[in-house]
Amino acid sequence: MASKPPDLMSTIVSLCKRRGFIFQSSEIYGGLSSCWDYGPLGVELKRNVKEAWWKAMVTNRRDIVGLDAAILMHPKVWEASGHLAGFTDPLVDCKSCKERFRADHLTDLKKCPKCGGELTEVRKFNLMFKTFMGPLEDNSAVVYMRPETAQGIFVNFLNVQQAARLKPPFGIAQIGKSFRNEITPGNFTYRTREFEQMEMEFFVPPEEDVKWYDYWRDKRLAWYKSLGIKPDNLRLRDHAKDELAHYAKACVDVEYKFPFGWSELEGIANRTDFDLKQHSTASGKSLAFFDEETKQHMFPFVIEPAAGADRATLAFLVDAYDVDGEGDNARTVLHFHPSLAPIKAAVLPLVKREGMPEKAEKIYRDLLDNSVRSSFDLNSSIGRRYARQDEAGTPYCITVDGQSIQDDTVTVRERDSREQYRIAATQCVEVIGKKIKEANLCLSA
Ligand code: GAP
Repeated sequence: MASKPPDLMSTIVSLCKRRGFIFQSSEIYGGLSSCWDYGPLGVELKRNVKEAWWKAMVTNRRDIVGLDAAILMHPKVWEASGHLAGFTDPLVDCKSCKERFRADHLTDLKKCPKCGGELTEVRKFNLMFKTFMGPLEDNSAVVYMRPETAQGIFVNFLNVQQAARLKPPFGIAQIGKSFRNEITPGNFTYRTREFEQMEMEFFVPPEEDVKWYDYWRDKRLAWYKSLGIKPDNLRLRDHAKDELAHYAKACVDVEYKFPFGWSELEGIANRTDFDLKQHSTASGKSLAFFDEETKQHMFPFVIEPAAGADRATLAFLVDAYDVDGEGDNARTVLHFHPSLAPIKAAVLPLVKREGMPEKAEKIYRDLLDNSVRSSFDLNSSIGRRYARQDEAGTPYCITVDGQSIQDDTVTVRERDSREQYRIAATQCVEVIGKKIKEANLCLSA
């Protein structure tokens, strides 16, 4: 096995562009800082990550339901949630080079780390994006792009609880875009100003908060491992008291060992009854749960596993990256878990004659008709085509050769083991479908 390139992030960024995983946004205009577009392979990968999360958190569970709330919410939501006053980062500017830094990331607040120039006083900078609703651009029309999806869940707590007839402990899950005017975005898609979150608010009787916090911490760590992330590249990190968000009693991060160091993938927080109580007071409408059996009102505590779809996708990409072979034989392989692989199978006629393309086309059509995302590749040598599929992370290649025309069998080549075996051409959908299904078993709750 060859060693990985010294600048792994740059290699991954260029692979992402070349193979159509991720492109710089508005590239033809010079790009827009910290904004990225997912290409044909990237969009499949990210959709599979979100689907795997939704299956584990909603589809396969009886105690969690979904929600899709609007990005724009009443401005009073952000007053009550504390985001208007407290969702800030400390900021300093260099008076000489004009570079901007997060003050809490600097050791010396007097000197610019880039040019040595003088720094301004620390200012608080609110991270919420502001815009105007309707034609007037005055204070009465200000709305905010949500900085977290969670608030859409809190303000709908009773709507969902009553409509779905749920009793704590139960959860409400949501996947959607959030926006933060980050001072220092960077590291590719790791920290951006527009990103997608996968959040679940789990409402529990207050006396059960510690039990459920431990449960979700372990469950969420296990989810990344079950989808193939190497255990050595994952760890849990408890937040110190002075790091906690204004709403949290406790928080633990699932961290991944990115090439730029250990960094947060997801936070699991005990948000107590802070949000439900804040919105009850601010709106004048109680969000307390009413227990029909005991005839008591109660504000449940909230345990929140909050993940980022873009960060998770980046971690799955980095972790899957490998180089096989040495020198001229070295080639890139993305060892994606089959559930996450953008393309599940590639159908490859050995040559462009003797009826092989037609036979391969039929297999390809069958796979697509059965919702197995596949590709068809007719050009260049079979070795190069295998290499192209390894680089895209395709777990199975199906080759149609001379023997296929004689006895209606094909070769299946497995990406990770390079094992090859023959199956009946008519069994492709069944064999590949079974393999994907078996791999998907890990997504059960
Ligand atoms: N509702 C709680 C909350 O939003 P958070 O730790 O600020 O908590 C949750 O965000 C997750 O959202 C993070 O763990 C990360 O995966 C993702 N995330 C947050 N800010 C991000 C950013 N600027 N770019 C990409 N992902 C981000």
